[in-house]
Amino acid sequence: MRFDLVISNGTIATASDVFSADIGIKDGIIVQIGGEMGEAAQTIDAAGKYVLPGGIDSHVHIAQPSGEGIVMADDFESGTRSALFGGNTTVLPFCLQKKGRPLREALTAYHALAKGNCYTDVSFHLIVSDPSEAVLGQELPALVEDGYTSFKVFMTYEDLRLSDAQILETMDVARRTGALVMVHCENEDAIRYLIGRHEADGTVAPKAHATTRPIAVEREATHRAVSLAEVADVPLVIVHVSNREAMEEIERARRRGRKVIGETCPQYLMLTADDLDGMDWEGAKFVCSPPPRDTASQAACWDGLERGVFELFSSDHCPFRYDDPAGKLNPKGSRSFRHIPNGIPGVELRLPILFSEGVMKGRIDLPRFVALTATNQARTYGLYPRKGTIAVGADADIAIWDSTLTRTVRHADMHDGADYTPYEGRELTGWPTTVVLGGKIMVHEGELLGSKGDGTYRSRGRSQYATPTQEQSFET
Ligand code: URP
Ligand code: ZN
Ligand code: ZN
Ligand code: ZN
Repeated sequence: MRFDLVISNGTIATASDVFSADIGIKDGIIVQIGGEMGEAAQTIDAAGKYVLPGGIDSHVHIAQPSGEGIVMADDFESGTRSALFGGNTTVLPFCLQKKGRPLREALTAYHALAKGNCYTDVSFHLIVSDPSEAVLGQELPALVEDGYTSFKVFMTYEDLRLSDAQILETMDVARRTGALVMVHCENEDAIRYLIGRHEADGTVAPKAHATTRPIAVEREATHRAVSLAEVADVPLVIVHVSNREAMEEIERARRRGRKVIGETCPQYLMLTADDLDGMDWEGAKFVCSPPPRDTASQAACWDGLERGVFELFSSDHCPFRYDDPAGKLNPKGSRSFRHIPNGIPGVELRLPILFSEGVMKGRIDLPRFVALTATNQARTYGLYPRKGTIAVGADADIAIWDSTLTRTVRHADMHDGADYTPYEGRELTGWPTTVVLGGKIMVHEGELLGSKGDGTYRSRGRSQYATPTQEQSFET
């Protein structure tokens, strides 16, 4: 066979093995691993490098409507370009339902924004903000059939939060259709109460974002989410977990036999609430929800990555420009923490952070890195085994890593649409140098060779975890 591309002499890592072999690619698919390689139109010599499945980032926000006068810093072009340079080949952004409107309407608009503009493959989760009878009864089940097999619900944000009753009804659709529910766990009423107290004593600086969303707020909501999932008998994903107490809720649910998938993110390993206490308004750069905690919580999240409390490591990339009234600077003409848009950029540094601070520092091994960043992501969200691993028959989505490269993070070197990175000045060792998407070399030695439009929309199958744990019968 004449290959389109051969990647030779590299050290391949999957979620279970590390081994040396060449990879032969034809028509966008991995067709041979190891053995005698035939001729190839193109060859990449990966000697001395690691050859990993392309990263899958299942938690990114791109071009998501974010409230009046607020504009997200990334569209599909800049967001997926940034993802690509960070070693990713697939991202899963959220498509947000407008209140009172069908989900299809949001999807049509979202597809139009993505089409022809992506440097990575994309697939969409749905955010259910208005679970009306029509949405729950007809629309959502039909969308699951069409390959939108996961949806996120919020327990916080005044305009997005669902009541417990609405969450149960949405979970019930997941139970009946085999979809997977993701939950943002923070108690909105408790946050409102604390915001009131802060405002009463004139506390308005960015740091108050952290003190109005303390650990108890996240812990209580996590407990409630896993309890509601138990009542509805569905598996669930707890996204962006920031601390040990929320982790303990996940572990306790698992001990009861529940399927609960935990996700954490780079900000909970690298930042603390003290970062929100910067000079002037600088703390706004670190405002995200849940907020970064303290060094003990960072250590807990590392522990959770090692022990398998977390199966997913995602970015929660949610970029707003800092020096911009449509971003973090002066939202609604106000200088109150309340109006700072929530979210920070991270899609380009998710993998380098986990590689440098996790693999290179001996906290996790390479197969665990691959599992957390690609294989488990594909399994959880219905993309496996087409994506998320290096295997014959899989898409040729591959990132080649140089573990000897040390670089200081500079926003000037990044490829997103924001105007800062929360990790400015950090020194990281181990970077992706070549990224291949569907057999096409997209990035090589820092140079962009791919075009926008090379990445395409991918419909998904059901999550392999989305089966009820116990077949509950309500008949007597
Ligand atoms: O602050 C955050 N995380 N913003 C993104 C939206 C979300 O809740 O994931
Ligand atoms: Zn969230
Ligand atoms: Zn998010
Ligand atoms: Zn930028």
